[in-house]
Parts: sequence; structure tokens; C-alpha cells
Amino acid sequence: MLFHNELIDGLVRGRLVSHARGSILELNVGTGANFPHYPSSVSVTGTDLSHRMIAAAKKEAERCGIQAEFVRASVENLNFPAAHFDTVLSTLSLCGYEDPVMVLRRMRDWCKPDGVVLLMEHGLSRYLPVRAAQLALNDLHYRHIGCYLDRDLGQLLVASRLAVTRIDFSPLGITQLIWATPDPRPLGLSSKRSANAGPPIL
Ligand SMILES: C[S@@+](CC[C@H](N)C(=O)[O-])C[C@H]1O[C@@H](n2cnc3c(N)ncnc32)[C@H](O)[C@@H]1O
Repeated sequence: MLFHNELIDGLVRGRLVSHARGSILELNVGTGANFPHYPSSVSVTGTDLSHRMIAAAKKEAERCGIQAEFVRASVENLNFPAAHFDTVLSTLSLCGYEDPVMVLRRMRDWCKPDGVVLLMEHGLSRYLPVRAAQLALNDLHYRHIGCYLDRDLGQLLVASRLAVTRIDFSPLGITQLIWATPDPRPLGLSSKRSANAGPPIL
């Protein structure tokens, strides 16, 4: 089971994270599970709330030969110049925030206009039976795991004014790999669908 999880997780992450380039901001870096998938030429600024996670991520960066520096802070308290990073990346984190749009807007602001925002997140499925199960389990899941199952990623991205260029869905439509750019269009136009759905992720 562990092998299965690692294999699937590795394949899915690699598919997204290998598209990162240049100077990278990775929010909520955790243990550095994305580091094995970065191209070798990148430089990463990893952030997380937890000392223990940062310590583990540092080790993983060294193991993978990735140039990295770390900031220990809550995402709400981070401060970077606007339009600073070539890639802004977050995986498996949006589900925990009380205000995910605020975080996505900050990600958009920190990304260069010609940069890319990369997300691997779980959200409400487009398949109605799966969606119904997610909604039914949401409160229980949040109470026990601290993670919301009912995030509508499409709506969050529109509200954050990120222009989606590609989305790959898992077979049940829950996990989504998202490629987006800071949306330069005036408010209102950004709600038009810009995503090209890619192939399913596995
Ligand atoms: C589910 S883990 C995901 C870790 C990693 N991104 C991955 O894909 O494996 C969530 C991470 O977010 C961090 N975290 C949770 N809330 C945070 C916050 N408000 N600000 C900064 N880090 C936070 C936790 O310490 C943890 O490392």
C-alpha cells in the first residue's frame, strides 16, 4: 500500500512539478516531497509554518541537490515583492486554509506576469455521486483531519483572478493538477473558461 501510494504520488507530482522553472516559491513545503521532481537548474524558496517540516525539507533539498532557502512563517504572514518568482507552487495545502482565495491572490501577486502558478490540490469532483459523498463527509472530515473536502477549485481560481491554462483530473475528478498564469484581464472577463482539460492524471 505504501509502495502504491508513493508510486502514484510520485508519478502525479512529477507530472506537474517537472514544469517548474527558474526561481520557485513553494508554499507549505512540508517534508520536501516535491524536491525529487524539480529540474536541477532551479532555485527554491520553501516556506512552512512548522520547524520540523522545514528541517525535513532542508535535508531533502540537500539529498536531491536542489539549491534552496527556507522561510518559517504562516502563509498569512509571508511578505515577498510583487512579480518576483518565475514559478509559484503549492501542493495539498488549499484544503486547510480558512481563506484560500486570499492565499491564491498572494500567489498570483508574487508570480511574474510571464511566470506560472502550479497547484496539485483536491477539490469537489465534477461527478455528482462523488461530489455528494464529499459534501456529506465534509464536516466530519474537517473535524478529524482539519481539511475541507468541499473546495470548488474552479470558483476559487476565478475569484483569485488566475487564468487556468491546463487542468488534469484524477479519475474520480477529486485531485487536480493545475497550470495557471496571473490573469492580466480586467475583472469580469476572467470568469470566462480558459482551461484546456488535459488527459486524466492516471
Ligand atoms: C498536507 S501538508 C502538504 C505538504 C506538501 N506541500 C506536500 O505536498 O507534501 C500541509 C503543510 O502545510 C503547512 N501549513 C499548514 N497551514 C499553514 C499555514 N497557515 N501557513 C504555513 N504553512 C502551513 C503544514 O505545516 C504542512 O507542512
